[in-house]
Amino acid sequence: NSRAAFQCALHGWYALHQRRLPWRDSPSLYKTVVSEFMLQQTQVVTVLPYFDRWLRALPDFAALAAAPEAKVMKLWEGLGYYSRARNLHKLAQAWVAAPAKPRTPAEWRELPGIGPYTAAAITSISFDESAAVVDGNVVRILARLTNEHRQFRDGTEAVKHFTPLADELIPGAHPGTHNQAMMELGATVCFRQKPLCLTCPVAEFCAARRCGDPETLPRLKPK
Ligand code: ADE
Repeated sequence: NSRAAFQCALHGWYALHQRRLPWRDSPSLYKTVVSEFMLQQTQVVTVLPYFDRWLRALPDFAALAAAPEAKVMKLWEGLGYYSRARNLHKLAQAWVAAPAKPRTPAEWRELPGIGPYTAAAITSISFDESAAVVDGNVVRILARLTNEHRQFRDGTEAVKHFTPLADELIPGAHPGTHNQAMMELGATVCFRQKPLCLTCPVAEFCAARRCGDPETLPRLKPK
């Protein structure tokens, strides 16, 4: 069916063309959590040096949990949105203290700094939970795949609209790989402006590519 063909094309492309990122080789839960916190409001290129420095200084949950607040804030300095650092610090302390480690998206959402997006990213990558990540990149891809011309009030409304479709596209096997492949496609091919449709691995599934203008989607009300 076309869902399986879509997943197959996307995953084949991701296996060959994904960027080598430090949280992707020998991944661990800790690396995934730190990277997802840093990536919440910051681009990959900016995160890279901070991520390396952070991992050398605070290599695991126990080290982070035991670190003084000043050291944590110093390592985050320059990344902005400092509540992320404070929440990550508290999360490590909660993780170390927890008798039963959280596993499902619902359990992760009880931890500090974890919203639906981060919960889906962490649990799909680290625990194979079938939770779809729906961020701005994924909204853009899905609006184009379906040639959705409806105008959304804001990003939140668009995320809500596309979450059922994102959930449907999640494969049973390797949901974390699928989520990362979607994010990677948004970051490196399905650009907001001048998307690279000629090299897109899923162009054949894209309704906007066939009969519309991908660059004009998604439509969001001007602020
Ligand atoms: N942005 C948020 N999470 C990401 C990830 N795992 N890889 C690349 N970009 C991301």
